[in-house]
Amino acid sequence: MNDILIQNIGELILPKKTDRPLKGKKLNELTVIKNGTVAVKDGKVIYAGEHSEEYEAKEVIDASNKVVSPGLIDAHTHLVFGGSREHEMALKQQGVSYLDILKQGGGILSTVESTRKSTEEELYNKSKKEIVRMIQFGTTTVEAKSGYGLDKETELKQLNVAHQLDKDTPIRMKHTFLGPHAVPKDAKDNATFLQEMIDLLDDVKDKADFADIFCETGVFTTEESRRYMKAAKEKGLKVKIHADEIDPLGGLGLAIDEGAISADHLVASSEEDKAALKDSNTVAVLLPGTTFYLGKDQYADARGMIDQNGAIAIATDFNPGSCVTDNLQLVMSIAALKLKLTPNEIWNAVTVNASKAIDADAGTLEKGDQADVVVWDIPNHEYLPYHYGVNHAQTVIINGKKVYENTGLLTES
Ligand code: NIG
Ligand code: FE
Repeated sequence: MNDILIQNIGELILPKKTDRPLKGKKLNELTVIKNGTVAVKDGKVIYAGEHSEEYEAKEVIDASNKVVSPGLIDAHTHLVFGGSREHEMALKQQGVSYLDILKQGGGILSTVESTRKSTEEELYNKSKKEIVRMIQFGTTTVEAKSGYGLDKETELKQLNVAHQLDKDTPIRMKHTFLGPHAVPKDAKDNATFLQEMIDLLDDVKDKADFADIFCETGVFTTEESRRYMKAAKEKGLKVKIHADEIDPLGGLGLAIDEGAISADHLVASSEEDKAALKDSNTVAVLLPGTTFYLGKDQYADARGMIDQNGAIAIATDFNPGSCVTDNLQLVMSIAALKLKLTPNEIWNAVTVNASKAIDADAGTLEKGDQADVVVWDIPNHEYLPYHYGVNHAQTVIINGKKVYENTGLLTES
């Protein structure tokens, strides 16, 4: 019985589905209805709009003038991994850079070691906790990457764990193979290792929606990334890329050229590449939580991309090294403070545009849509990025089913 009626909605946030991904000025357009109603039947939205008394359901939620939106979509996470890297925090404080830690065999490579050692069950239990937390924070769809195996056995282990969690938990998932995420210590050379990952595409293609690669100094070049993307497309996978995160290698231009569904990070992308976003369907997935966590001053040029009519989304990049949070609400605040996005742009960036970036059937509340809905304990939609670092999610509904409720203190005294 996935029927729910939500009444007394102070503000009902309705991102527009037409023209996905929303580009340029359209990103700032958001329908916000005062005193709204949402009606859900059999897991689907049958009505979302102005107040209506026409609908009935066994379960009626009184939103008490609070805000209701589609569930958030986290379009970029490294969900499944073993271990943790808190010791790197001191290194960072001493000024050792992210790429230097990686060069010394730490960073991603240390997580590879822990992930290889972890059993499937250990990875499952650890990642499940993260999923529960994501749901509590209002995330109802998540993209999960592999990439901490760098070998067949462990990459498949990560993908299998993610698929099992997809089955066992209410969250919706998309799956990404990120075999070329780093070059293992014992690899002959980058090109040989890349070929191994290309050869793996056949084994993972039925377990992944996307193929991703880390295009960065000391990791993979743009030429290698192009080779990988072409091979992945031949196997029927859509492609994504970690591009221009630290150095301006031109990964964004490559992504647009290869018709990537998204290009992610883009802190150091060139003016020319940013301008080219407008004529493409590639979504720029910006990860300002990562820039914040790496302690960098330069953030992705979100305003420049939007002003030039590009499409952007916002995601956490949740991972054990460069952004250790699965709280997308926090990243929405960082997007307001550091990327200078407006509240409307931010809501669109974590709903419709995020859904386009991972080809998800989510992010809007139109008739017939899957009913993934969040009731937020905030007075209006501008309030969420403003009051930062806390959890505003009151009730989370996935597929028309209440899956989380913040019930407050166990006792009032
Ligand atoms: O998106 N930069 C590459 N990959 C991740 C970080 C992974 C890690 O440090 O474990 C990122 O930032
Ligand atoms: Fe990432």
